[in-house]
Amino acid sequence: MVKDSKNIGRIIIVNNTKIEIKDLYKIFGPNPKSMLDKVKTGISKQELLEKYNHTVGLQDINIDMPACGIQVIMGLSGAGKSTLIRHINRLIDPTSGKIIVDGEDVLAMEPKELRNFRKFKASMVFQKFSLFPHRTVNENVAYGLKIQFKNQEEINKISAEWIQRVGLGGFENHYPAQLSGGMQQRVGLIRALATNPDILLMDEAFSALDPLIRSDMQNILLDLQKELKKTIVFITHDLDEALKLGDNIVILRGGEMVQQGKPQEIILNPIDDYVTDFTKDINRGKIIQVKHIVEKDHSSSDYVIESSKTVEEAIEELINADKSSANVQENSSIIGSITTKNLVSVISRK
Ligand SMILES: Nc1ncnc2c1ncn2[C@@H]1O[C@H](COP(=O)(O)OP(=O)(O)OP(=O)(O)O)[C@@H](O)[C@H]1O
Ligand SMILES: [Mg+2]
Repeated sequence: MVKDSKNIGRIIIVNNTKIEIKDLYKIFGPNPKSMLDKVKTGISKQELLEKYNHTVGLQDINIDMPACGIQVIMGLSGAGKSTLIRHINRLIDPTSGKIIVDGEDVLAMEPKELRNFRKFKASMVFQKFSLFPHRTVNENVAYGLKIQFKNQEEINKISAEWIQRVGLGGFENHYPAQLSGGMQQRVGLIRALATNPDILLMDEAFSALDPLIRSDMQNILLDLQKELKKTIVFITHDLDEALKLGDNIVILRGGEMVQQGKPQEIILNPIDDYVTDFTKDINRGKIIQVKHIVEKDHSSSDYVIESSKTVEEAIEELINADKSSANVQENSSIIGSITTKNLVSVISRK
């Protein structure tokens, strides 16, 4: 983990980046490196494809992914999401750029180091579950542990714990085809977690599931994450899922980063029409918190509301208290104020 702390007066700022993606370019085609200058100097994707028969997969990607957080990558089909996540464990090599994990250059790893990196540090969970069809639940979960050369007793103990943990007790000897989609993906998830990696790479891991099962899986992941604090890179094209899971969100379009930030920042300030289009149908009142829209001036109101309340909760509270404004409190001090008018305008602005 890169820890770079600066002592500024009494405030210590800790930069806790786990995965750094720097100036990443990926071009597909017969001679990608020869196309790099053209892409860097702004040739259109269309022209690159028509004239030179190369495809831009990713272009000028720079992301610092914090340790122990969920980094969501979103974008429409073909935006470059899978291409990006596959660079992190080097299933794909970039045309140029760097991938640094815990301060270590993934591109400089020798084959053995890379194998160990995949075995011990970064596990992947796929959309299509990718379970071994001829192995039981138990054998699927044990797989990663076996390749870590754990002894059988340890393997049995760890597998059994994980299977119980996600409510699959009794299904140990079932084969994937005998399980529902949700159950199969629980196996996919615990197979990845059983090896105790620092990093989980999840490429549309829940996208093939029915909405209710999908929501269950999101809750399971969030519950596990509270305790495990993995660094998770989660790909989705669903904004509700991104907002529910993401500590940070990157939005990709056509291989380029359009916007990155905290969910609330993206919803409050979508950078262009593409992002606005993504965000227009979501329930802003449930996502945006009072702290994001607080006005600096204090109110004469005697009512106090916590800054962590959502806009929707705040409106309800103020209506019930028959107030039209309130002071906003964070860590026991007043940081500003809000009015019901402002709260309502946040919800109604599309
Ligand atoms: N091996 C390849 N050869 C040529 N082009 C590729 C290759 N892999 C990906 N691409 C191109 O790179 C772009 C990004 O593809 P990618 O699979 O990363 O998109 P995605 O955002 O994951 O899409 P989806 O949501 O459909 O999974 C697309 O234009 C795709 O056609
Ligand atoms: Mg994909």
